[in-house]
Amino acid sequence: MSARTRLYDLAGSGWLRGLQLLPPEGAHGLAIRALASGLGPRIALPERPRLRSRFLGFDLPHPLGLAAGFDKNAEAVAGLFALGFSFVEIGTVTPRPQAGNSKPRLFRLPHQQALVNRMGFNNDGLETVRARLEALGPRPGPLGANIGANRDSADPIADYVACLRGLYPLVDYLTVNVSSPNTPGLRDLQRRDRLDELLGALLDVRRALGGAAKPRLVPLLVKVSPDLSPEGEEAIAEVTLARGIDGLIISNTTVARPKISPARGRDQAGGLSGPPLFLRSTEQLGRLFRLTGGRLPLIGVGGVASGADAYAKIRAGASALQLYTALVYQGPKVIARVLGEFDGLLARDGYAELGDAIGVDRAVS
Ligand SMILES: Cc1cc2nc3c(=O)[nH]c(=O)nc-3n(C[C@H](O)[C@H](O)[C@H](O)COP(=O)(O)O)c2cc1C
Repeated sequence: MSARTRLYDLAGSGWLRGLQLLPPEGAHGLAIRALASGLGPRIALPERPRLRSRFLGFDLPHPLGLAAGFDKNAEAVAGLFALGFSFVEIGTVTPRPQAGNSKPRLFRLPHQQALVNRMGFNNDGLETVRARLEALGPRPGPLGANIGANRDSADPIADYVACLRGLYPLVDYLTVNVSSPNTPGLRDLQRRDRLDELLGALLDVRRALGGAAKPRLVPLLVKVSPDLSPEGEEAIAEVTLARGIDGLIISNTTVARPKISPARGRDQAGGLSGPPLFLRSTEQLGRLFRLTGGRLPLIGVGGVASGADAYAKIRAGASALQLYTALVYQGPKVIARVLGEFDGLLARDGYAELGDAIGVDRAVS
């Protein structure tokens, strides 16, 4: 390690420790402002040919992207790519701006390196986000937008359609978020009949927009809740396959409280993320890989904090990965750490490329 890298590491961990002394939402706001104003680090990751990934038609240098919710308003896209993520997902965006739930609404569980949040889709709204995306320069990787409905919407499906129309020409993929636990009724949109209606409406609009705005159709993904019943998971697999959805993101946060001993924040209402979500979301990933017969690209998200976690998600069936909570606890160096460890594990097990390891655990229940 060069003296310069060591100096940077020292500054980085000081900055991270400083942020961790602030209330969580204030720390997050500060991090976004720093990244938005170009004060964040620019991290050059070593080339790792084994980790090259093909996902939704994009060639990625590695499979690790940033999960939705960190940059809800597309304020820091360039700064987030500069940290080394191979793709970035902004949002959740709703048609009208909304304040979200009352504060405090974000809680740290430091012993578990976990978070509980009940943000409630606080965001600047479609018009503002669209203007920011229009002003963005070229990006080094795919940019996704995660879309949702306003809390007080009389017609949630119309909300998703409005967001799809507004963001379609500006992004590389869109995620239909029907899995946030913090907007009452939202997760009911995962029910077979309602999901089919929602996706039907979105696909009709996409067909109409089609190649007019872009040379190819913008992929449409669905992000699912880790709290679905077995029948709910079957419905997701059947409807998304039948409708020709382009992929699934597995998973959002959980309202369950698995594997955490009593801790401050544990009993707060909201969605739990980080390591305590890992097993639940990875098992669901494996089930949905089997239910979809490996025919749908899956993004594995939930508790990824090390190379072993990344490897387990790929083996369960993911072809790309996202994280959020580990960035909060480990800072930007988590990206190089996860990728370095993951690359080592693939090499150890004799995989020449990541693609060969996707879904190899499918026979395991
Ligand atoms: C504070 C916070 C806000 C989030 N907001 C959103 C959101 O707006 N939309 C969404 O789809 N997921 C959101 N998520 C969920 C993450 O995208 C991710 O699915 C989840 O945190 C699990 O990944 P992790 O364990 O790596 O954090 C949020 C998560 C956190 C911690």
